[in-house]
Amino acid sequence: MKNKGLILITGATGYIGSHTVIELINAGYDVVGVDNFYNSTAKVLDGIKKIVGFNIKFEEVDCSDYKAFEKVFVKYPNIVGAIHFAACKAVGESIEKPLLYYRNNIVSLLNLIDLMNKKAKQANIVFSSSCTVYGQPSKKYLPIPETAPLVKSPSPYGKSKQMAEDILSDSVVAFPELKVCALRYFNPIGAHPTAYIGELPNGVPMNLVPFITQTAAGIRDHLNVFGDDYNTPDGSCIRDYIYVVDLAKAHVKALDKLLGEEPEAKKAAAKKIVAAKNSPYPAAEASGRWFVYNLGTGKGLSVLQLVKGFIKATGVKFNYVIAPRRKGDVEQVWADPSKAKKELGWKAATPIAEVLKSAWKWQQTLPKK
Ligand code: WQD
Repeated sequence: MKNKGLILITGATGYIGSHTVIELINAGYDVVGVDNFYNSTAKVLDGIKKIVGFNIKFEEVDCSDYKAFEKVFVKYPNIVGAIHFAACKAVGESIEKPLLYYRNNIVSLLNLIDLMNKKAKQANIVFSSSCTVYGQPSKKYLPIPETAPLVKSPSPYGKSKQMAEDILSDSVVAFPELKVCALRYFNPIGAHPTAYIGELPNGVPMNLVPFITQTAAGIRDHLNVFGDDYNTPDGSCIRDYIYVVDLAKAHVKALDKLLGEEPEAKKAAAKKIVAAKNSPYPAAEASGRWFVYNLGTGKGLSVLQLVKGFIKATGVKFNYVIAPRRKGDVEQVWADPSKAKKELGWKAATPIAEVLKSAWKWQQTLPKK
């Protein structure tokens, strides 16, 4: 298969980054990964090698260190695109350590934009954004479209994602060669079918599915279901749980789109692109080089439905108790993924039972610490 070009993946040994490396290689892209192992380990590179059959190009780099990051672009001058995953991502931790989150998440992005503009062969950036930019949408916006109003996030994590989208959209307006696609993830879950890579939470998992699988494995005594008194059918919170491999495939589609697009500046000049009504980024949209997509299944599942779905899919029972609500949780949010289907030709297709089985298969490869 023809090499479609060299892509830089920041956060390449992270949960979503590692799964995206696999799908990029499967699709014929060449990749170079960077990571500082703040929230991952070099062992992930062994897992990637077992799947693709070779050691990927990799540099241990902190993207917030400009000089160190610049060396990657000197060593690999043919980069035609970047996918930016490198960021701290724990909502709760961000409230305790705001400066860590703003410094790491914003400075690493500023460095990437600057270096892509100055040193890369082509400046195409796919950005790992989040449905947290929507806050708790009102019921009239569920399932939530990209045109829903953005609500200031209560956490520095969420705010850093909102700031990142502002920085990228302003950069697209300022730099005529820069093209950006922001992908707003809902709840990524599951693991690669080989179980060679998967989610590796540090310490006690914050997210639901790794907590479920660790409880099922006997590592945790029981799962706390944070609240069953919400205004939902069974009282527990609703989310849009998307298979991490389906999510990874969307990044390939987003890159294909950016790399395949004519220089949008010419197209935009030729036919005046009108920004969506009430767009938060009118100038960027009008440039024809700014794209935003919600990446979800379009189906909401409650916590209790996921718990019961896991037990049904795997046959593994585990203890769970109803606990008080968790501060900062939104009650219900799930995606309208029709724009990604229409413009990227992408759809999350894996049945939830298969996804939950993949998470359990991965958990069984991990030490019962
Ligand atoms: C899901 C539901 C909890 C743990 C995450 C990421 C965020 C963003 C969106 C990408 C909630 C409940 C959880 C537990 C529980 N992703 N829960 N017991 O909060 O939706 O946010 O996805 O940017 O970065 O953090 O995911 O898995 O923490 O919670 O009852 O032990 O499960 O209350 O309703 P969340 P989560």
